[in-house]
Amino acid sequence: MAKVKTSYFCQSCGYESAKWLGKCPSCQQWNTFVEEIIEKPNASIPDWKNTGSTTQQRANKAIAVHDITVHEEQRYVTPDAEFNRVLGGGIVAGSLILIGGEPGIGKSTLMLQLALNMPKLKVLYVSGEESEKQIKMRAERLSPLPPKGGVNLQNETSTPPLGGGGASGCFILTETSTQNIFKQIEQLEPELVVIDSIQTLYSSHIESTPGSVSQVRECTAELLRFAKESGTPVILIGHITKDGMIAGPKILEHMVDTVLQFEGDRHHVYRILRAVKNRFGSASELGIYEMLGVGLREVSNPSEILLSQRDEPLSGITISATLEGMRPMLIETQALVSTSPYGTPQRSATGFDTRRMNMLLAVLEKRCGFRLGAKDVFLNITGGIRVEDPAIDLGLAAAIISSHEDMPIPFKTCFAGELGLSGEIRAVNRVEQRIAEAQKLGFEKIFISKYNLPNAKQDKHQRIDLSRYTIEIIPVASIEEVFSLLFG
Ligand code: TYD
Ligand code: MG
Repeated sequence: MAKVKTSYFCQSCGYESAKWLGKCPSCQQWNTFVEEIIEKPNASIPDWKNTGSTTQQRANKAIAVHDITVHEEQRYVTPDAEFNRVLGGGIVAGSLILIGGEPGIGKSTLMLQLALNMPKLKVLYVSGEESEKQIKMRAERLSPLPPKGGVNLQNETSTPPLGGGGASGCFILTETSTQNIFKQIEQLEPELVVIDSIQTLYSSHIESTPGSVSQVRECTAELLRFAKESGTPVILIGHITKDGMIAGPKILEHMVDTVLQFEGDRHHVYRILRAVKNRFGSASELGIYEMLGVGLREVSNPSEILLSQRDEPLSGITISATLEGMRPMLIETQALVSTSPYGTPQRSATGFDTRRMNMLLAVLEKRCGFRLGAKDVFLNITGGIRVEDPAIDLGLAAAIISSHEDMPIPFKTCFAGELGLSGEIRAVNRVEQRIAEAQKLGFEKIFISKYNLPNAKQDKHQRIDLSRYTIEIIPVASIEEVFSLLFG
């Protein structure tokens, strides 16, 4: 009997070791090593076509950089404008895209919706999680199927293929073996492949169970070779573990071209698609969707949904002009400051970094003399989104003061500024875009840093032309100044 070859893999980072280890030397996690059976088929690299042949190792020669010819990468522009934006202008041919997200957030819905609506493109949707009937039911729920080019079920031979003999349209395949998937791909020759999900696939070249590090790595490598050799883009869906890691192997992130994260609060209807890594575009882009009964809807004007409708001004609520990627957005920032019933006051922030909140509180305490030490402070960014832009500091500080003093901030006022440790209001980038968005949404006043103004000793590109705006721009230099302007 042939000896079974095994190896130990860290389930967190994919580190391989010949023997079991208590602590991973790579990611320092404890107790993450699991034995997995590996069987290398005579040290050959399996080809995606599964012909049994080994991929020829062609020795590459070094080329001078100016001799390399480049052509603009071919992109498939999808009907989903948010998806295009996040990818940097559409799906690049031959790219491998990973979409991560918690279970139930809507990854399958997003991808099926995309697969169904790609015009003039043959899409193969491979599912290892749901049956054909389930997918069909979901597809019918998503959008009324067009009479032509609708969903074609690969395995159901009784139904004649729709859409003119399958020239275009969406094909469903329920399969988990990569070898069988590649067989179907060779027959069907799809122009886009979606895999739902990478954790359910297995390759017969590796013995361990689906979802294990070595299987996920092998299946991704096979799909990567397929994508690069055939020029067909492949989208992988991956589940995320509770601590935010793409389940098990972080190694996936290094192998793929683009990593997108689909996130949101499951109790809110809004979902955010974020680029975490993108070899073909900016990694700071963001797409917003709304989960409805009939699938996901693109939200093209996020400011309108993130601002709640109120009749009278309330204390502790401010509007901040933030920027996600290239896109200006007005968001509602809320604070609640109340006397702590216990010795240790509670500090909690939703959608904002807690350490940064503590810094804001310390600055307010030291520079403005607010006694916040014995107060509970809660911060919240509405809509269930997470913001890392430091320009919301000023809005949050104003919200904290407003709640502490129980004095509302006047309507139609918004803020954009970063708070420094000595209480100074620092300049923020792209302030003009923020001002323009606030003006567009009917705001009357915007507080910005004095250092964003033309007369300050700033770089040329940070200067702004005030005369272009009808909105009243209030330049401030310190948090004390903001306080006296707001509350007198
Ligand atoms: P799903 O795409 O299955 O999530 P994932 O693949 O990320 O695990 O989404 C499941 C959730 O989406 C489920 O809780 C129901 C909800 N949903 C809607 O609200 N509307 C819809 O049209 C669909 C298809 C799903
Ligand atoms: Mg799913």
